[in-house]
Amino acid sequence: MSYIVGLRNFLLKVVYRISRPVIFLMDPEAAHYRFKRVGVLLGSNALTKALTSFFFDYNHKSLNITVDGVKYRNPVGLSAGFDKDGELTSIYPSIGFGLAELGSFTGEVCPGNPGKRLFRMPKSKSILVWYGLNNQGAEKISARLKDVDFGRLRVGINAAKSNLTPEFDLQESIEDYTKTMDCFKDIGDYYTINISCPNTQDGEPFVNPEYLNALLTAVNEHRVEGRPIYVKLAADMELDEVNAIVDACVEHGMDGVVLTNLAKPKYNEEYVKEELPFHKGAMSGLPLNRISTSLVRHVYRRTGGKLTIIGVGGIFTARDAYEKITSGASLLHMISTLIFDGPQSISEINRGLVQLLKEDGFNSIEEAVGSRNPLPKLKAVQTVDDDKVKDIA
Ligand SMILES: Cc1cc2nc3c(=O)[nH]c(=O)nc-3n(C[C@H](O)[C@H](O)[C@H](O)COP(=O)(O)O)c2cc1C
Repeated sequence: MSYIVGLRNFLLKVVYRISRPVIFLMDPEAAHYRFKRVGVLLGSNALTKALTSFFFDYNHKSLNITVDGVKYRNPVGLSAGFDKDGELTSIYPSIGFGLAELGSFTGEVCPGNPGKRLFRMPKSKSILVWYGLNNQGAEKISARLKDVDFGRLRVGINAAKSNLTPEFDLQESIEDYTKTMDCFKDIGDYYTINISCPNTQDGEPFVNPEYLNALLTAVNEHRVEGRPIYVKLAADMELDEVNAIVDACVEHGMDGVVLTNLAKPKYNEEYVKEELPFHKGAMSGLPLNRISTSLVRHVYRRTGGKLTIIGVGGIFTARDAYEKITSGASLLHMISTLIFDGPQSISEINRGLVQLLKEDGFNSIEEAVGSRNPLPKLKAVQTVDDDKVKDIA
């Protein structure tokens, strides 16, 4: 069966590769909206959903995973930013996603940044994003989604702060996040608090420990029973800043972190320099692959595996996905692979994960999490030392 799915995916990949030059002739934002419209259409009735499943879905029991009490049919998820208004939830399970993070949603309606704001960098396998959190606002979107049955799809609600003014006001900003949390209190399976949008007018103020402390205190007051809360970090912070945020997450009882958001070109060396099309924005895709995996490794070790990690950045193949899992990630997010490789890459990654688990002798994703990033066994070292001390005495 796996071979048949592999052949199907290979043929779909060839079709996508042939169509890609034509798709890439379209303006990237226009192409994004056109594909979304196709997705809405495919998700609108049982027949097109069944057909989409036939061409794109893949299931295997070893992919089932429970994370912070939420059961996922597979760990492969859509990352925030693709579905900024939460319009495509009916089609994601048929494409093969186990989860989809919707948003970022903001407390207020947000038009985003003016002008051209999406650019392809094909040689770098990256998208330069200068959107600036455009979305219809938490009230409107939550009203539309409140009675939607997401079925086997698990849904993350990504909350960010409205990008409307360059002035930063701590209290207003916090209320913006908690307004979104309240609007979505009966919708979705987990929250992500996005403190790392690189394209906002007032920067990333919650890197400041005092502000972060105030935000996480408020977020906890708006917690919904049984709904994990994750915090999404930037890709290009100093290690001290990463450590301070991760420690604050542990201290405030956050359930985990999403690693990472987009990479700012001035802090990143992993793209083709002459391809950079614009002086603003931040990059997705391949330039993020190594840095996000390194951060997954670091945070997994620093927290002793106690914080859930959602790994995101430059996942194009099952090996990329498996590397993030074996480094410590329990769930995965992705966007760029859809754009550069096509939607069949979701089931191809899931299919490849099943093979890689088998090769390593694991029966489930849970068993593989962090398996190539072993945590230091401090207790054991202590025991050996104690015995040695006894022997010497
Ligand atoms: C077009 C686009 C829009 C994005 N918008 C958001 C967003 O609104 N909120 C967010 O947390 N991340 C956003 N991101 C970042 C992604 O969620 C993800 O962290 C990043 O793209 C790395 O994943 P990838 O390499 O698989 O694309 C966006 C990414 C892209 C490509």
